[in-house]
Amino acid sequence: MPPQDSSTSPLIALGKRYWLPVYKPRDVVLDHGSGARVWDTEGRDFIDFGAGIAVNALGHGDPDLLSALTAQAGKLWHASNVFWTEPPLRLAEELVQASGFAERVFLCNSGAEANEAAIKLVRKWAAAQGRDPSRRSIVTFRGSFHGRTLATVTATAQPKYQEGYEPLPGGFRYLDFNDADALAAAFAEGDVAAVMLEPVQGEGGVLPAAPGFLKRVRELCDAHGALLVLDEIQCGMGRSGTLFAHVQDGVRPDIVTLAKALGCGFPIGAMLAGPKVAETMQFGAHGTTFGGNPMAAAVARVVLRKLASPAVLGNVARQSDALRSTLRALGGELGVFDEVRGRGLMLGAVLAERHRGKAGEILDLAAAHGLLLLQAGPDVLRFVPPLIIGDADLAEGLARLRAALQDFVGR
Ligand SMILES: Cc1ncc(COP(=O)(O)O)c(C=O)c1O
Repeated sequence: MPPQDSSTSPLIALGKRYWLPVYKPRDVVLDHGSGARVWDTEGRDFIDFGAGIAVNALGHGDPDLLSALTAQAGKLWHASNVFWTEPPLRLAEELVQASGFAERVFLCNSGAEANEAAIKLVRKWAAAQGRDPSRRSIVTFRGSFHGRTLATVTATAQPKYQEGYEPLPGGFRYLDFNDADALAAAFAEGDVAAVMLEPVQGEGGVLPAAPGFLKRVRELCDAHGALLVLDEIQCGMGRSGTLFAHVQDGVRPDIVTLAKALGCGFPIGAMLAGPKVAETMQFGAHGTTFGGNPMAAAVARVVLRKLASPAVLGNVARQSDALRSTLRALGGELGVFDEVRGRGLMLGAVLAERHRGKAGEILDLAAAHGLLLLQAGPDVLRFVPPLIIGDADLAEGLARLRAALQDFVGR
């Protein structure tokens, strides 16, 4: 092979030439990381406030994850689900025990697949109840994000993700998030089999369920014989301050989906099924080649143990307070934010009216100042750092944010 040029511009040129242009990455090629810091191919360092879209909850280069992965990689990479292997069996038991509600687990490779499994499980359950297809609707909420497969993008009640992909699968109804009266009215029509929602909407703007909303949803589901499906792919696994986000809302769901931080960067998803639905899907009803891959499961077992620890959850609470109060102070001082909202280390800063639509510009400036930051739509800056971020990195990231925001308001 001829020597390859690994400097930044030729690498980016490959992306522009060969990738399906569905992404617009910033002009940075990341190379390696440690904790809450990442370095690019030019040796510049970045504070990571995005964690690979709320994935790297234990930061980069966690030694326990590395040794779990390499130990399993040295033994067996893949077996498929026609044979048992130990890591996914142990992981399933540990997820059930940690959840406090689930009886069975389906392992897959991504968030969209976990939600696809949940949607199929709802339909199968409704069919088993003797409901005809017109009475198997799933209610989702405007601003939600549930994935990019055809069914999950249909569950995603945001037209911008759906346009051009019609005809979309039927049987989804969209309501305003946090509007319990609208949900009660929808139930009155008699076709709703399930309600599916994120306890904290992520992509839709980092918007938590209003106090009491999930309880009301649970009551309505119970009153009308419907299932409650919670998508904790982004807000779960400790990100919102508890291992499972819904614990804070005091509800018991029927189905919960996980992905993202469950593998901390190694692809894995999971659908957890409670007692009403745990026996609904039987042999042949669903499947996947890679789901439950032993390497992914070996990593996820360590992730689960570490993210459930008081050390990590305590850090989430502490750094959440620090991040929230500094963002509020910055917003007040520079007049850039209207509101800072969210739970735990999943916070959103809503841009002030006159800066609406400019989140992307701020992200460019942040990257130039050595900060990896995300948006949640055009009007909200999204803060989802590793859950293990320490005081010094958080303070340094906020100093870089301040510099970027000063550039932004001074343009
Ligand atoms: C709440 C939620 N659900 C589902 C998904 C889809 O997950 P994936 O991209 O792994 O398919 C995402 C991804 O951002 C998400 O935030």
